[in-house]
Amino acid sequence: MTQRIALVTGGSRGLGKNAVLKLAAAGTDIIFTYNSQREAALQVVAEIEQMGAKAVALQLNVSDVASFSEFAQQVKAQLHQVWGRESFDYLVNNAGVGLYAAFAETSEALFDELMNIHFKGPFFLTQQLLPLLADGGRILNVSTGLARFALPGYAAYASMKGAMEVLTRYQAKELGARGISVNSIAPGAIETDFGGGHLRDNADLNRYVASQTALGRTGLPDDIGDAIAALLSDNLRWMNAQRIEVSGGMFL
Ligand SMILES: NC(=O)c1ccc[n+]([C@@H]2O[C@H](COP(=O)([O-])OP(=O)(O)OC[C@H]3O[C@@H](n4cnc5c(N)ncnc54)[C@H](OP(=O)(O)O)[C@@H]3O)[C@@H](O)[C@H]2O)c1
Repeated sequence: MTQRIALVTGGSRGLGKNAVLKLAAAGTDIIFTYNSQREAALQVVAEIEQMGAKAVALQLNVSDVASFSEFAQQVKAQLHQVWGRESFDYLVNNAGVGLYAAFAETSEALFDELMNIHFKGPFFLTQQLLPLLADGGRILNVSTGLARFALPGYAAYASMKGAMEVLTRYQAKELGARGISVNSIAPGAIETDFGGGHLRDNADLNRYVASQTALGRTGLPDDIGDAIAALLSDNLRWMNAQRIEVSGGMFL
């Protein structure tokens, strides 16, 4: 069997980092991106290499659509140089930021920033990378539980993620002819640096989320990294165009 290669955006920290480590542990080689945290990214590369897998870290700002063509060239060059291949197998659109504002107070600038990072970026990045994604490959778009339930302060953010869930179904429809399946994973609240790390660092908020979660605690990066590796496993090859919520049962 050919060595599988995953490309994960935002692999330097948080859920993306956990996902690349879990994918590598399952035998997948990794290309991942970072935006600002080069040192953290290089440490992740070292961790993956210690596990015996290959890893490449590339800089990418997912809100900079003009840079995507050059980024695709870099991916192509790395695939050729490191793996002697023309394509990779799994694309995980994960990079993102937590920025909050009440609907009534959301500025156009904040809206545009969230739109560029969470919808326009992954839309055109995926388009740009299509020639490099193997036939029979997989795309996994990272959404959020907030696209199902509503909490004050997330109107713009959650709307962009909701758009990604709709896009997931359209991509599945149009890319099925190439054997590419497309799904979205919707994590519940997970303790990462996301949104300034307030779920992890604010005990009251942490208790509140735990009390609203059927399994009685907040989510941890391991919960999502394991789920991403499982969703990309061969056993789930027939799953397509689905939104899979991985939240421990939040706000049921
Ligand atoms: N944590 C949660 O509760 C939660 C829940 C549901 C969904 N999500 C979603 O899960 C994804 C990952 O979140 P996380 O919790 O892991 O966040 P995180 O710990 O803050 O990590 C964010 C990652 O995204 C990268 N990134 C941020 N802005 C970027 C940009 N403009 N261009 C490229 N990369 C960028 C960061 O790169 P640098 O390190 O280089 O800055 C980092 O690798 C996001 O899409 C988020 O919306 C999170």
